[in-house]
Order: sequence, then C-alpha cells, then structure tokens
Amino acid sequence: MKNLLILETTCDETAAAVVTDGLEVLASVVASQEHLHERFGGVVPEIASRAHMERILPVIDEALKRARLRVDQLDAVAVANTPGLAGSLLVGLAAAKALCLARGLPLIAVNHLQAHIYACRLAAGQEVFPCLGLIVSGGHTSLYRCATPLDFELLGGTIDDAAGEAFDKVASLLGLPFPGGPSIERAAKRGNPRAHALPRPLVDSDRLDFSFSGLKTAVRYRLAPPGAVAMTGPVDEQTVADLAASFQEAVVDCLVAKALLAAERTGLCVLCVGGGVAANSRLRGRLAEETKRRGIALYIPPLALCTDNAVMGAIAVERLKAGLTEPLDLDVYPGLVRDAKK
Ligand code: KG4
Ligand code: ZN
Repeated sequence: MKNLLILETTCDETAAAVVTDGLEVLASVVASQEHLHERFGGVVPEIASRAHMERILPVIDEALKRARLRVDQLDAVAVANTPGLAGSLLVGLAAAKALCLARGLPLIAVNHLQAHIYACRLAAGQEVFPCLGLIVSGGHTSLYRCATPLDFELLGGTIDDAAGEAFDKVASLLGLPFPGGPSIERAAKRGNPRAHALPRPLVDSDRLDFSFSGLKTAVRYRLAPPGAVAMTGPVDEQTVADLAASFQEAVVDCLVAKALLAAERTGLCVLCVGGGVAANSRLRGRLAEETKRRGIALYIPPLALCTDNAVMGAIAVERLKAGLTEPLDLDVYPGLVRDAKK
C-alpha cells in the first residue's frame, strides 16, 4: 500500500490530505481563509498567498498527525498546480517540491478542475468514467468529456464570469455576506423565483457555453436604473429575497440546460458535477429531477467534497499508477489549460 500526501492551495483554502493508493482517505485538513476576504467581498490574491504561507506547514503537520504517519512513511506528494491564483499555487507547489526533494519522493501534478470531477468518483465509491463533467466553482464553469481519469476534453465554458463569481458579486450587490453562494441560497428560500424575469444568457443557443455577466448587470439594474452611479437606497428584505431567488433560478436554468445539451450531444449518460456551486440545493434538486427523467446517472459529492479540499486530489493515484510523475522544475499554470490532458 502506498500513502500519498496531497496539497491544495489554488485559491483561498489551504488543504492537505493523506490518501492511500486504494483511495482510502486517512486524513483531510482544510484551513479556510473566508474571514480574511469577507470585508473585501471577494478573494484578494496577495492576502490569499500570504495566508497560505502561514498555514501550509501546520496544515501538513496536522494531516500527517491525523493519518498517524511520519513524513518517512509517505510514498508520493501530489499538488494542484493548475488552474488558480498564481501566488497561491506557488505556495503549494514549493511545499510539495521541498518534501519531494528532502525525501526523494515522486511529485504528481493535479489539475484542480479534474480533481473537482474526481470528487464524484470518491464519493460514489465506484467507477464513474466515462462521464460528462460539469464544474461550477468560483473561478470556472466548464463542461468536460471525461473519457478516463487521465483524459479530459473541454467541451465549453463560460465566456465571462464563472457561476460562483456571479453568486458572489450579486450577493454583494444585495448587501449579503461573502461567500455569496450560501448567502443567496439562504435568502432565496424566502423569495419568489418568478418575481423578476431575469435573462438566461445563451440558453437558446446551441453553444455549450455559459455567460453570467449580463445576468449580474440585470440584477444591478433592478436595484438602480442604468446610469445611476449609486444604489437608490436600502433595499427591503423581500426584494432581496425575490431577487436572490430569481437570480438563483436563472443560473440554475442555464447550468441545467447546457449539461443536458452536452449529454445529448456526447451520448454520455453519466453526469458528474463538482465545484463550490454544486453545494447549491436548488441546483442539486433540479439536476436530480431532469437527469432522472432522461435516464442519466447523476453524481454530486457531499458538500465538503464540493468546495475546495485536498481529498479530491486523489486523482493523483490514477496518475501515479500510470507512471505520470513530474520533474522538480514543474511550474504553476494559473490559467485554464485548454487541453486538460497536460
Ligand atoms: O470550488 P470552490 O470552493 O472554489 C473555487 O475553486 O472557486 O467554489 C467557491 C464558489 C464561491 O463562489 C461560492 O460562492 C460558491 O462556490 N458556493 C455556492 C454555494 N456554496 C458555495 N454557490 C451557490 N450555492 C451554494 N450553496
Ligand atoms: Zn475549486
């Protein structure tokens, strides 16, 4: 049996996990930075990378302690090196390289988006490939054809904002706390999703793409007319709830429509959903309904595996088994790698 240490520092969670090559999770630690970014209404890259530097070693120590392992009992180190915030990625990569150099261990590169899909494999406890992958996170909204855990093909994605980013920005417009996704979901429970007829961008086009920036602007115009520099005043609670519900419904409509279109196009009848927005109960409910009707098997991980964590980086086990290890001059790739096989 081999023990892998997996590191995740792509955005604002510092996370480490210890997983065996039989996919047994021995430890998982996630140190969130949410409170550091709250007052800015979004993740501030420089604050995130500094916080990763402070936390990475204690988080690794804690993961090893929980797994009851010493560093010399590790067999490989994996780290998410794409996509993400450059400064944040570098902290995880530097820590991983240091461990590999010191202990002579193989280094494995993890693609954070592929890891979000692999969370479905872990949660299912059985094979889910080949499948269609829908990633809905703070930084990405993408559809993948996932032939195997080592072969992902990008089918489409957002042409502007990611779904999670739109949730965060709309929450901020509505005066709701960061992170916006859970705040909007809570407010939406008291609102009417049909109160405001908001647009469903690209939903009628045959492109497998998303666009959320116009939807965000549409919410802003409900609060203050175009051209007004500031909001017209405090917004009452019911308007906030109605706008939250209407916005959430519009995003969910777009995500569901494109996931179904991709299933139809590819003929794949397994849908795996990952990323923070997959924690949204309205999205989970609508996807469950629509996939059931079409005989598509749906996998959405439990909440703790939807938001950023290191356990999902167990996709590294597949790479290790295929002999896909990296040299110690491995770099970070902050942007989305179009050919995700690399
Ligand atoms: O995957 P993730 O943890 O980090 C990234 O890789 O980006 O996703 C974070 C995003 C944030 O934008 C957050 O607002 C959103 O996921 N999110 C949600 C919910 N929980 C988190 N969006 C909608 N509904 C939720 N319940
Ligand atoms: Zn993520």
